[in-house]
Amino acid sequence: MTFQGTRPAPVHIGRAEPRLEARDKVTGQARYAVDHPLPGAVYAWPVQATFARGRVSTVDTAPALALDGVLAVLWHGNSPRLEPGSDPNLLVLQSPDVRYYGQVVALVVATSLERAREGAEAVAVEADVEAADTVLRADHPGLYEPPVVNAGLPGRIDNGDFDAGFAAADVRVDATYRTPTEHHMAMEPHATTAFWERGQLHVFDATQASSSVRETLAAMFELPPQLVRVQNEHVGGGFGSKGAPWPNVVLAAMAARCVGRPVKLALQRSMLFSLAGYRTPTIQRVRLGADRRGRLVALGHEAISQCSRLVEYTEQSAAVSRVHYGVPNLTTSHRVVALDVPPPTWMRAPGECPGSFALESAMDELAAAGSWDPVQLRIDNDATHDAEGLPFSSRHLVECLREGAERFGWSGRDPRPAGRREGRWLLGTGVAASSFPAITWPSTATARATADDHFEVAVNAADIGTGARTVMRQIAADALGTAEACVEIRVGDSAIGFATVAGGSMGTSSWGWAVTKACRLLRERIDKEHDGRVPPEGICVSADTTADIAARGEFARHAFGAQFCAVRVDPATGEVRLDRMLGVFAVGRVINPTTARSQIIGGMTMGAGMALMEHTVLDGRRGDFVTSDLASYHVCVNADVPRVDAVFVPEEDPHLNPMGSKGLGEIGIVGAAASVANAVYHATGQRVRSLPITPASLLPGYASGA
Ligand code: MOS
Repeated sequence: MTFQGTRPAPVHIGRAEPRLEARDKVTGQARYAVDHPLPGAVYAWPVQATFARGRVSTVDTAPALALDGVLAVLWHGNSPRLEPGSDPNLLVLQSPDVRYYGQVVALVVATSLERAREGAEAVAVEADVEAADTVLRADHPGLYEPPVVNAGLPGRIDNGDFDAGFAAADVRVDATYRTPTEHHMAMEPHATTAFWERGQLHVFDATQASSSVRETLAAMFELPPQLVRVQNEHVGGGFGSKGAPWPNVVLAAMAARCVGRPVKLALQRSMLFSLAGYRTPTIQRVRLGADRRGRLVALGHEAISQCSRLVEYTEQSAAVSRVHYGVPNLTTSHRVVALDVPPPTWMRAPGECPGSFALESAMDELAAAGSWDPVQLRIDNDATHDAEGLPFSSRHLVECLREGAERFGWSGRDPRPAGRREGRWLLGTGVAASSFPAITWPSTATARATADDHFEVAVNAADIGTGARTVMRQIAADALGTAEACVEIRVGDSAIGFATVAGGSMGTSSWGWAVTKACRLLRERIDKEHDGRVPPEGICVSADTTADIAARGEFARHAFGAQFCAVRVDPATGEVRLDRMLGVFAVGRVINPTTARSQIIGGMTMGAGMALMEHTVLDGRRGDFVTSDLASYHVCVNADVPRVDAVFVPEEDPHLNPMGSKGLGEIGIVGAAASVANAVYHATGQRVRSLPITPASLLPGYASGA
């Protein structure tokens, strides 16, 4: 099955358009999870464990309950029972056991936010504290190799004979790279408003996936799913941290049941560090071997990461090495260790993001070792199949590299490091390749026509700041063959019907397919059954893409890109400044160049932050993330990224979906940090293999305190 030639030329798809909700957002009309005014609403504030491992012995609620306005204090001794088979991290207040610093041990509900917080401070918790194991090390005895890692990928893929290939290579690189713990830092915190009405649970939740929150809550509270409704009309960023339900939504639902009133629960910024996931630190060994002409003969990528005691999660950091280059002898593997730490989760391009820092830094090291141009080295090692032997549905990495080199002004680059000065600054440029899987997941949508030629299209997409609503309307208008002004689009409500997460860069392709299918069916029915005229009572059709997606051919579907970066480094202070970043991407058909560009430059900017500043510091003795605010956890601001630009190379791929689109929410961060690190090497001759690249990492004397 291909989609070639099955569609009329798109009119609305491909047009740069502003976001439908832009005005609502800038005027403060858009409502986020705790912005919904509900009569009688009360407020909840969690009490968190101040130790990483042990058992709560007593919770003294009396001082909190004595405060005027405190309605309830929930703890494991009195809270409603939840279905015990649920995700252990969501089984809040069910047992005295504590498995990470910051785990919720009580929840105070009060008539005002201030009183809830005051109550939480008054709750006295006693515990038997045990020694905690919180630090990831390459020699940790608890490391093991899980057969399946995140995204359902095989933990290990080996091809050929890596050891023999590596031993026989003419040029070799063997290096270990480290990436730190990072937090997502979405603007809207994890937040929920919950209320119960005639046995029905209704929540407004800051989530990327209201359908899955609904399923989770239904299971945990043992309700039929139709008695749970989850709405997320606007979501203030997620980056993966809102891809699955977190304790806030369960706590709010529990508390609302206990006090019989709507409950609002917005986590404070510091709470997000333990209660909303993070990117695991990684330790990655990469070995590359090439022949004399610069053809890869062996590639080894072994990745180590951590997870919590509660939930197994293995970051698939070596997976990127199964896709980027063609190589006969390959080994890719993952090991993970369960520690007394909060659960890590998906963060923008889980796997590909940290993995590409290692692989694409190593490619730069290989280029230096063999005196090859880093762009040409990547072009020379292009692939036709992935590591499992599947052909790529489309692959334009080489075009991205060539186009980027041209636009960036790469030709004539002197590869020797530390050779260019401008005043006190050392100048350098770097390149890295990017990729991200082009996933499409089954979803449903409905389309309704009314007699006045008006259309209502509903799909449970989550617009997490991406423009999902806007692009769904473009897609619907094309599939209906009508003007966008005639289409009303509804998203962000589990009552619409199942749709997949705004995550894995699969939203637009998955929801858009369901929308296309529903709209085409509707158009067909209007034309065939009603002679092109909508009857007075209107027509409504629903579509489900499960069978369509299953019927597709087997391909390796990925988006590709090339990242270029120019930096300057002050050798006296170790300060790194970004001069410019350019990303060139092949992501199938771009539905809306405006929102697409925003996504990509957002990802690149986040990658710049990963390269130079983002780092959650763990106090290993206590298991506490100590940089738990925006003053000590640095993300890029405008002044840090003076010039960042993204362009797309045209790409037609008949094996994707009716729109011909690949995702682009995550690929912008993939390779970005490596391009910065490679530019820093070019500027200074210093290879930094551990992120972030701080002045201390460039001036070793500072780091050692000498
Ligand atoms: Mo993304 S990390 O799948 O929201």
